Amino acid sequence: MANSPRPLVAGNWKMNGVNASLDEIYKLADKLKGGAYDCNVMICPPATIIRAAKKAADGSRIEIGAQDCHTQQSGAHTGDLSAAILKDAGASAVIVGHSERRADHGETDELVKQKAAAAHSQGLVAIICVGETLEQRKAGETLEVISGQVAGSMPEGCNAQNTVIAYEPVWAIGSGLTPTVEEVAEVHTHIRKDITSALGDAIGGEIALLYGGSVKPTNAEELMAAANVNGALVGGASLKADDFFGIIQAYE
Ligand code: 13P
Repeated sequence: MANSPRPLVAGNWKMNGVNASLDEIYKLADKLKGGAYDCNVMICPPATIIRAAKKAADGSRIEIGAQDCHTQQSGAHTGDLSAAILKDAGASAVIVGHSERRADHGETDELVKQKAAAAHSQGLVAIICVGETLEQRKAGETLEVISGQVAGSMPEGCNAQNTVIAYEPVWAIGSGLTPTVEEVAEVHTHIRKDITSALGDAIGGEIALLYGGSVKPTNAEELMAAANVNGALVGGASLKADDFFGIIQAYE
């Protein structure tokens, strides 16, 4: 399987995860020991357990990320968390523009762009999410929607060290439905074209493009083999070490 860009298998725990869930990180660290997996591995737990998760992952290859950040680094924004705060807690990356935040909090491309810039300014990797709704797919608007989100959500200065893009069709998230491998490849190849024409081959060709939406141990190998797919952003199946490990094994 292609190892450039370097693949990433990231787990998005969403609003799931308490101290007891750290056991899954210990279990995963144990499972990963000694194996040769040609990918980076990350877990993005709720912010309240980032520090403990980082400690649980200590000595393993598991990196810890966050799920959202504010556009500012500090100030009067009750309840929000900045990239600086997340970094201080132990995060090395942060998801921005997840469709659940776009839907639940009305986040726009412009806001997502500012959040990604805020992440970059703290040295965090921004995992920028894009994805079409079922209505948009049915109307044949998928590629146009994705192009708009990619262009609108990427700040200046994106490169393979500070940016990952995750394609997550909204209708595939948590539904058990996935696009066909051909449909995934079509969108990923389209994103690759967009970012190489915007940033040049050297930079645009090296940014990892993750697929997300009902990735499971049973479909991971097939989806990860699609053209221009450089890993996965996994929701439900990242909560249990056994399932998440089953997905990582696509890179064995
Ligand atoms: P599921 O893997 O549960 O479909 O969630 C995907 C996702 O939204 C990851 O960010």
